[in-house]
Amino acid sequence: MQDEVRIGVFVCDCGSNIAGVVNVPEVVEYAKGLKNVVFADEGRWSCSVDYLESMKQLIKEHRLNRVVIAACTPRTHEPLFKRTVREAGLNPYLLEFVSIREQSSWVHMDDPSAATEKAKDLIRMGVAKAALLEEGEEIRLPVKTECLIIGGGIAGMTAALQVAAQGFQAIIVEREPQLGGTLNRLHSISHEGQYYDAARLVEEKRGLIESSPHIRVFTDTTIQEVEGYIGNYRITVSQNGKEESFEASTIIVATGMKEIEPFGQFQYGEHPGVITQLQLEEKLEKDDFTSVNSAVIINCVNSKNDKRGCCAIGCPTSLKNALALKERNPSMDIYILYRDLNLVRRESAGVLKARKAGIKFIRFSEEQYPEVQKNGDQLMVHVYDNLLQKEVEIPADLVVLTTALKGDDSVEEIRGQLKVSSNADGFLQEAHVKLGPVDFASDGLYLCGCARSPKGVKDSMDEAVGAAMRASIPMKRGYIEAEGIVADIDLTDCNKCGLCYKRCPYSAIKLDEEKQPVVIKALCKGCGLCAADCPKECITIVHFSEEQILAQVEAALEERPEDKIIGFVCHWCALGGVDMAGVSRLQYPPNARLIRVMCSARVSIKMIERAFELGAAGVLVAGCEFPTCHYISGNYAAEVRVKRARKRLAKKGYDPERLWNIWCSAADGPKFANTMREMTKALGLGG
Ligand code: FES
Repeated sequence: MQDEVRIGVFVCDCGSNIAGVVNVPEVVEYAKGLKNVVFADEGRWSCSVDYLESMKQLIKEHRLNRVVIAACTPRTHEPLFKRTVREAGLNPYLLEFVSIREQSSWVHMDDPSAATEKAKDLIRMGVAKAALLEEGEEIRLPVKTECLIIGGGIAGMTAALQVAAQGFQAIIVEREPQLGGTLNRLHSISHEGQYYDAARLVEEKRGLIESSPHIRVFTDTTIQEVEGYIGNYRITVSQNGKEESFEASTIIVATGMKEIEPFGQFQYGEHPGVITQLQLEEKLEKDDFTSVNSAVIINCVNSKNDKRGCCAIGCPTSLKNALALKERNPSMDIYILYRDLNLVRRESAGVLKARKAGIKFIRFSEEQYPEVQKNGDQLMVHVYDNLLQKEVEIPADLVVLTTALKGDDSVEEIRGQLKVSSNADGFLQEAHVKLGPVDFASDGLYLCGCARSPKGVKDSMDEAVGAAMRASIPMKRGYIEAEGIVADIDLTDCNKCGLCYKRCPYSAIKLDEEKQPVVIKALCKGCGLCAADCPKECITIVHFSEEQILAQVEAALEERPEDKIIGFVCHWCALGGVDMAGVSRLQYPPNARLIRVMCSARVSIKMIERAFELGAAGVLVAGCEFPTCHYISGNYAAEVRVKRARKRLAKKGYDPERLWNIWCSAADGPKFANTMREMTKALGLGG
């Protein structure tokens, strides 16, 4: 690499998205005057093929060895510019992305001069960091062709068959004595208004699995331990008390879900006539229901509230099972009590069918849930009919509760064994709802079916095919290139305290024979928790080193620090929220200067203190809402550190109330914008 730092700054107009508010020519002139900047240019559409081509030429022509792109958001466009920089012969880790659309032009539309000043600051911060950037490298790991599938329900069986169809080896581990999962308890399944025999589907899949030479099945088996990383997993299982170990290169989790039994509500657990949908499915297999004269189905039990969303399958299930009851006993009075009927595609035809069969529908509101009472042995259901605007009393022999759902009991174990995240509803958490819906954040790990969220059989099967195809990509290629944002330890000052080794969420730091920490790069995800915690500052994170981030803080506060809020935002949900505020054109005061970190766990107390030492009005640490940190538990670590930082600030004479933190989802644009408004107001910045 050349010794002289030669930075090129490329400022995008984004048509009028940026240039319509920010004075881009002025910003480009400003960038040209910054230290180490040897070239700056304005691009009308910087991500267009033409401009990317000319960018490559300009990088070569001006012998640039660092690039700052000031444009939209790194969450969508960083990979494209990284590729361009690489094609120009530069290491892609020598690129810094500055977001002047989502963080400036779109959110300060009414104040073009403040937006322009902010864009200059953000570029100055980017340039300061870029000057310290170092080359990074992707790590290439060999990947073989065995895929472990945890869970032998419909999703697991489908995934295994798909993996086998690609010519790879699938290994199913199922804890029950036979394959089939929840499907073994269902009497029928619905899809787009048609009903199918559940047992037949299971039989078909089992037959295909048994006859496949590429699928090995362990039933009555539990996972004891999973060690390693993509291409190199070592799995220990226990079957009837006997342990066995084998290797796999990829893992698909298909552990399914379970009902949340509403004990203590609606007489559930107190009267045998009150059951859940799954219990009804089992009864439908063996009972003729001739002694049941009246049945009431209550939907949305403990779902669709502020704790959990729509269970996604309750409405079609209630229709299907109401019709099945009617078929068993045509004279039965059947009521479906519902809040909304959430039916997609042809499922809604089931409503007409049900009405024709005499099934009655009563709509209730969230504020007035039905009540179930006992009158001796008789069940009485009271419901306020929202449409008739009156209270209705229904005597019932059977009450069926369509309950909320959560991830299988094994979720906690899987989280620990695979070092993956789960969400507030107890389901496993995908890497990104749109960009990686069947991937975990770690390479080589995938998920599908109801392990991820409640869904019907067809959707579970479709998702299983998706997960199998995702797992097949590295197995087919034979290797994977892992991201180079990883921890690096300089042992010079290390006192072997072991903090990094103990706290790493991925167990990516091991101790060697001399008890010195060693980073296993293939396991490290680059969250930065270890670097921020290391008392001796021995650990650096490629592309997010302490010096680089401090340089951004210092550059941000070079002018009028008393007006500025330094915000550390995690790349995933917090920056997602920032971007969402931008996309939604939510306007908020222009005081924040945001610094991207991969996880809120990367923010060290030193960074926060430095901002206050330099006169910042306030500091914000923003991360993913609990429990969904993309690095398992980084946000928890960040929360603890923010508390410690407040104490330290107070001791040093700074007002700890000026350090804020928020936890948000990638959809929380309004939350981020509100926080900015509230914070500027509380700090007396006139927002
Ligand atoms: Fe957002 Fe960890 S990734 S807080």
